[in-house]
Amino acid sequence: MRTQVVIIGAGPAGLLLGQLLCRHGIDNIILERHTGAYVLGRVRAGVIEQVTIGLLDEAGVGARMHEDGLVHDGVQICVDGVRHRISFKELTGKTVMVYGQTEITKDLMDGRAALGAPTVYAAQDVALHDIFADRPRVTYRAGGEAHEIVCDFIAGCDGFHGVSRTSVPPDTLTTHERVYPLGWLGILCDTPPVSEELIYVRHRLGFALCSMRSPRRSRYYLQCSLAEDIEAWPDERFWQELRPRLDEEARHRLVTGPSIEKSIAPLRSFVAEPMRFGRLFLAGDAAHIVPPTGAKGLNLAASDVRYLSRALIEHYAEKSDAGLAHYSERALARVWKAERFSWWMTTTLHRLSDNPFDQKLQLAELDYLFRSKAAATVFAENYVGLPY
Ligand code: FAD
Ligand code: DHB
Repeated sequence: MRTQVVIIGAGPAGLLLGQLLCRHGIDNIILERHTGAYVLGRVRAGVIEQVTIGLLDEAGVGARMHEDGLVHDGVQICVDGVRHRISFKELTGKTVMVYGQTEITKDLMDGRAALGAPTVYAAQDVALHDIFADRPRVTYRAGGEAHEIVCDFIAGCDGFHGVSRTSVPPDTLTTHERVYPLGWLGILCDTPPVSEELIYVRHRLGFALCSMRSPRRSRYYLQCSLAEDIEAWPDERFWQELRPRLDEEARHRLVTGPSIEKSIAPLRSFVAEPMRFGRLFLAGDAAHIVPPTGAKGLNLAASDVRYLSRALIEHYAEKSDAGLAHYSERALARVWKAERFSWWMTTTLHRLSDNPFDQKLQLAELDYLFRSKAAATVFAENYVGLPY
């Protein structure tokens, strides 16, 4: 087989890239290890930046998001039972949208099906070849048969555990990593959210987050240890641990109910540099991971795709490789700022140590955030998404 771009991975990065390329007449094939149902079953991100909204619109898949997504003008932060609000609208003129990754993935899958673009689900043993040559190849197995695709470029959109990053010569790659000694235990529940806006909770018992997917569906997270066994967390225990971390009003408004999903996600900061190796370009979680605090993971995947799609369109339409040459540098400049913000939110809101000095520093950071318009503006600018 022959195509212009092979995209490895049908997560948000791969599907969005595929959609943008198709709309500019650039042929692409997506290879995904799992089934479509499995990809759609993963509950992950919930908050999207305006630039991500713009990109989904550009990809022609924004209609349902504008219909069902919830526009949020601000966010609440609760510190040891006292709630504060930061207004994005007042400080930056911008807002964010609450719309689940599952829904975005579905919209992108439907959009791809409408264009008739090929996706191979359940592709096994995907392998990259000749990435530094003019005609790289990708091989895989599907339906018991071996296949080979010759292409111009490979987009590695296969997430943190994918094959793309690990296919490059080790001496061409530098990685930077911080692993936090904790995870997020998340539940999804068909109950009304506790508040109209998200509440990030800093409490001496540990971090919590009250989020949502719709006016009838809530998403809650609790800081947990990495060794935690999900079987040890019946719903009742989750509510018992969440309630005392909330302020009084939220405790009264909290509606509990049976969970419809429950999972644990580890917290990690990770960056691989560069993001280009010959004709292989990494995008999204394949190149970098942020801890979820601040909701930057999906948005960063979208910003990589914005740079990469424009560079590929420029290559084919204008015969210019300037965008491709600058891709890694441009993407990483934005990635590191999101790494900084997610690290800051994580270390400021979680219980990471029993050292009273660390705890006093957290409280000083937060007190400054609530008292200084400059500090609140820095927070709001980062939360709504930095400009490209
Ligand atoms: P992914 O979504 O990981 O997609 C990669 C795709 O590649 C997957 O479908 C995978 O099956 C496929 N793949 C992997 N290996 C291969 C292979 N060898 N061959 C073919 N295909 C392959 N972000 C937030 O902003 N807020 C959150 O609350 C949040 N929660 C998260 C919870 C969890 C458990 C995880 C793992 C991530 C969470 N994130 C969150 C991060 C966010 O979901 C990711 O940043 C986002 O999914 C990145 O998209 P992606 O397309 O780059 O990677
Ligand atoms: C959600 C996840 C996040 O990481 C975050 O910072 C805000 C919201 C969510 O899943 O709703």
